[in-house]
Amino acid sequence: MTAADQTTFRADLLRGKTAFIAGGTSGINLGIAKRFTRLGARVAVLGRNPDKARAAAAEIDADAGVSGTIALTADVRDYAAVEAAFAAAVAELGGLDILIAGQAGNFPAPALGMSANAFKAVIDIDLIGSFNLFRAGHQHLNLPGASLIAITAGQAVKPTPLQSHVCAAKAGINILIKTLALEWGPMGIRVNGISPGPIADTEGMRRLAPTPEAEAHVKAVTPLRRFGRTDEIGDAAIYLCSPAGAYVTGTILDVDGGTGAGSFGSPGSLGGII
Ligand code: COA
Repeated sequence: MTAADQTTFRADLLRGKTAFIAGGTSGINLGIAKRFTRLGARVAVLGRNPDKARAAAAEIDADAGVSGTIALTADVRDYAAVEAAFAAAVAELGGLDILIAGQAGNFPAPALGMSANAFKAVIDIDLIGSFNLFRAGHQHLNLPGASLIAITAGQAVKPTPLQSHVCAAKAGINILIKTLALEWGPMGIRVNGISPGPIADTEGMRRLAPTPEAEAHVKAVTPLRRFGRTDEIGDAAIYLCSPAGAYVTGTILDVDGGTGAGSFGSPGSLGGII
């Protein structure tokens, strides 16, 4: 149990709740899955690789001292596969209280250095994948009171060289979040986003800041002067999904060390956005 569990949240805050976490097999979303499980939720994680999904479920169980985390495999671009994953999850968990679209694809490349298919791959994984998850998951939500979160990024609101695909996909996610909040609020469904800054031990940071020099640069342009932890994104997700966030919907919550607060990086650098 972490200090945050003891001081910030009751240890049983999410007991009896169920959560489906796409991308929950690594990085930020694995961190969220662990935090949820430690606070009593039953979780299903979805990834593309079955071995990785099984390993993540075992890691989540061991971390929380429980058993029963569900490992699911599907490509979020395949709507039928997403539907099948939900069916498998609810067969074990019953209805879903929480649904997180955390899957993402990224590689730094200039627009002229990527094919149409490369641009489309990221749009499909991030934006279409989020729609597929929310659309297919809707029928399984426990209503009223369900909470949906999409993981977005600072690129959604900050045009960033080498990230045209991600900027376009995440901007789409931001407006999708707000639109679904309007359409689904009357049903008792809240829809929010979390926009993480540079988070340690993630595939994203390995791709965007692959060298010690790049890491140092990102820290230097981050107002809080450090990388965030996956646990800290988990805490934001707990806030949004718990009764503490019951009147919050259509919001994008920046959990980014201040990187989204203004222009702090050198123009034209990746460090300016993360
Ligand atoms: N620069 C330019 N183009 C690239 C590229 C790069 N660094 N990496 C991949 N591509 C292109 C491929 O060449 C391909 O285009 P083509 O068909 O015209 O040759 C296209 O992107 C799709 O790549 P592919 O590997 O077939 O797709 P995929 O679905 O298996 O992978 C990615 C999707 C490309 C987003 C891959 O990086 C991925 O799976 N990422 C998931 C993990 C991740 O990115 N985590 C970080 C999250 S912040």
